[in-house]
Order: sequence, then C-alpha cells, then structure tokens
Amino acid sequence: MQLLKILHLLLVMRWAASHASPEGKSQEERLSHARALLAEVPLVDGHNDLASNIREALENRVEDFPFEKNLTEIEPWASMEYSQTDLPRLRAGQVGGQFWSVWVPCSSQYKNAATQTLEQIDALKRLFDKYQEDLLFVTTAKGVEEAHALGKIGSLLGVEGGHSMDSSLAVLRAFYREGVRYMTLTHSCNNPWADSSVVEEQTDSKELEFDGLTAWGELVVKEMNRLGMLVDISHSASRTMHRVLNITRAPVIFSHSDVRALCNITRNVPDDVLARMPENGGVVLVNFFPYFLSCSSDATVRDIVDNINHIRDVAGVDHVGIWSDFDGINSVPQGLEDVSKYPNLFAELLLDPRWSDEDLKKLAGLNVLRALREAERVRDELAGEVPWDQFIPAEDVAGHLTCSNPWP
Ligand SMILES: *[C@@H]1O[C@H](CO)[C@@H](O)[C@H](O)[C@H]1NC(C)=O
Ligand SMILES: *[C@@H]1O[C@H](CO)[C@@H](O)[C@H](O)[C@H]1NC(C)=O
Ligand SMILES: *[C@@H]1O[C@H](CO)[C@@H](O)[C@H](O)[C@H]1NC(C)=O
Repeated sequence: MQLLKILHLLLVMRWAASHASPEGKSQEERLSHARALLAEVPLVDGHNDLASNIREALENRVEDFPFEKNLTEIEPWASMEYSQTDLPRLRAGQVGGQFWSVWVPCSSQYKNAATQTLEQIDALKRLFDKYQEDLLFVTTAKGVEEAHALGKIGSLLGVEGGHSMDSSLAVLRAFYREGVRYMTLTHSCNNPWADSSVVEEQTDSKELEFDGLTAWGELVVKEMNRLGMLVDISHSASRTMHRVLNITRAPVIFSHSDVRALCNITRNVPDDVLARMPENGGVVLVNFFPYFLSCSSDATVRDIVDNINHIRDVAGVDHVGIWSDFDGINSVPQGLEDVSKYPNLFAELLLDPRWSDEDLKKLAGLNVLRALREAERVRDELAGEVPWDQFIPAEDVAGHLTCSNPWP
C-alpha cells in the first residue's frame, strides 16, 4: 500500500511538472523539444564579432586564444563586456552554423581597411584550422548542412561594411574567393557609393548624400549577385534598402537588425521594407542588442520574440531568422545572455501555438540557408556574364585619394 501511495505521488508530481504552464508544457519540456529541433536542423546565426575581440585582446595571435575553454572563467575575456562566445557555450547553445563577421572600423576607410579586412579573414581561417574538430569552414548552404550532419559548426564568413572593399570590384571579388558570402553594404559611415543609416539619423532622408546608392554602387550590388555573395542591408539607410531591393536579382539579408515598429531607430527595418521581403525572398535576422530590440537597456527574451513576431506578421514566417550580434554587443537581453542560451528562445516561442515545428526550423536556419541557396542559384544563372569591371569614377572619390597611389 505504502508503495502504491508513493507511486501515485510520483505520478502526480510528474503531471504537475508537465502542466506547470497554462499552455500545457513545462519549461523543461519545451527546452527539450527545442533541443530536439536544433539537432534536426542547424541553428544558423548570422552575425558574431568574435574576430574583432581576438584582434583587440591578442592582436590576432590565434595560437594564444583558448577557445576550447569557458571564457567566463578566464581573463581578459571574463571582464570583457563584449565577450559572449566560446566553444563550450556554442556547443551548449547547439549552434550549427555561424556567419563569423569580418568587421574593421570606419576609421580605417580610405586608409588600410582592405588590409585589415584580410587580416581578420586570416585570423578566422587560422581559428577554423586550429579548432577543426569543432569548426568546419564552409562557403555554401549545402556545406552548412554537411557540417551539421558531421556534428561540427559550419563556419561562414561575412564582411560587415562596404568600406572594407576600398571602392574596388577587384577587392570584392578577392573577398569572394576568400570565401566571403555576404557583405553589409555600409557600416556606421557612408562610403563613396552608399548611404548608411547613421546619415539618415542626422539628416532628413531627402538630404542623403547619394539618394541611397550611386550608379557605381548599383554595380557593386550587380557584381555581388553575379558572384553569389548575399547583399546585407543592415546598417543601410532605408532609401538604400529600397534602391537595393529595386535592382537585386537575389534575396537580400538583414544580418542583424530589429524592427522600427517596436523601436523606431534608423538602425532597424521599417515596415514598408519588411513588406517587400516576400517578393525578394530575403530574410531579416533579429539582433539581440537590447537598445535595438526595445530601445532600452533591460530587454528580455520576450522582446526578441516580439520582434520576431512582428517580422512574421508583416513579412511572413519565411523571412525571419536569428542573428545575435554576440561579441559585438556590450549589453545582452535577460534569458539570452550568451551563445549557450539559444534554446531558451525556442522554448519561449513554443508557448505560442502559432509556432509549429516547421516554422521554428525555418527561423532557426532554414530561411537563411534558403536565401544563400537562392544567391547560389542566381550566380549559376549568371555564369556566362563577364565581371563588372568599371573603376569607381574619380569624382566619386575626390578628396579621398591622399593615401592611394594614383596608378591609372
Ligand atoms: C561557463 O562558466 C560559467 C561560470 O562558471 C557557468 O555558469 C556556465 O554554466 C559555464 N558554461 C558552460 C557551457 O560550461
Ligand atoms: C523603386 O522602384 C519603384 C517602381 O519602379 C519606384 O517607384 C521607386 O521610386 C523606386 N525606389 C527607389 C528608392 O529607387
Ligand atoms: C519613426 O520616426 C520617424 C521620424 O520621426 C517617423 O516619420 C516614423 O513615422 C516613425 N515610425 C514609426 C513606425 O513609428
């Protein structure tokens, strides 16, 4: 009898645990459901700035970087407010694919931006080599899926900021050959051919320097289409976004932006751009930076969900993804503090019956892989075309040539 009572009590406790939330599933159960989904499809994060931290802390001495350790316990990483990434935590967070961001500051524009960009690419490739048991350098959507099937993190490269290519289509092509598969057209500065969101903030949009994009800037977009490099319009002025959407033949991405409807800053995406995503096939990947999510310092995982749901409502479930900006942000949302916490986001979305398993897989990685695959398809379709080979017009870079050798 006593045994039966204990058994009954255990059953009641189990029932209570599994009915702990009004939606019927406990946090524990939702987390394990999320973990099962992320084992099936790769979680692909579009933006991690680890490389810039390796430069800052170690001047790119990758051999001295203990990526295999929990960096929350090792200096200088433990006290770096921009550090949220290491291998143990990537594994705990079940990351299956990562676009590693290659970013160099706007202050290097017209100076050694291209050189520094190559230095960051070099550091990342040495990191991939050093940790080849865990990281697999890939350049295609299929490559990410193959890495995931092998239990590795498919590692892609994306250049964050058009100033990196030094207004040269040849340099853009060299980046592609290095394996770069997206370029953000601008960072927080205009370059000689595209307007940044920062300019939109400081001026009336009618006074943008280039009305979004110059004629030569259009060639950059066309050459990216021809190469099969995704055009990333995070950081761009909204006028630039529309100009790009009018001419691109491949899907665009927003590698790390939130929505203006919830936090009205120029760094976020306006609804009229979100509404163009179904036609373009592009993907908006939400950024986890609290100041973009909710315009405040105290965002939570709920704010990420709200941004995701807004993109879903306006653009559709095929056009949303998650790209954290980890290691590039110095403030993090509660519940998603580092790369080990991604499953929490999925557990939170599982509270909402609208999010089916298929939808969650799209959000996790299938949407962005579809966009990359589509860019590859456009590349193949354009395979017979000659490269765009016009130099940027001298008047477009007038006043900025002081550091360059005027070789025709
Ligand atoms: C990393 O270390 C912190 C602090 O000791 C700990 O809370 C966390 O669980 C560890 N993460 C992993 C993935 O080992
Ligand atoms: C985009 O194309 C549409 C239709 O041709 C046009 O009305 C609109 O002005 C264009 N937008 C930009 C920013 O060039
Ligand atoms: C954001 O602010 C701008 C400038 O004040 C305004 O024109 C726009 O309507 C606002 N958008 C939203 C979604 O509130």
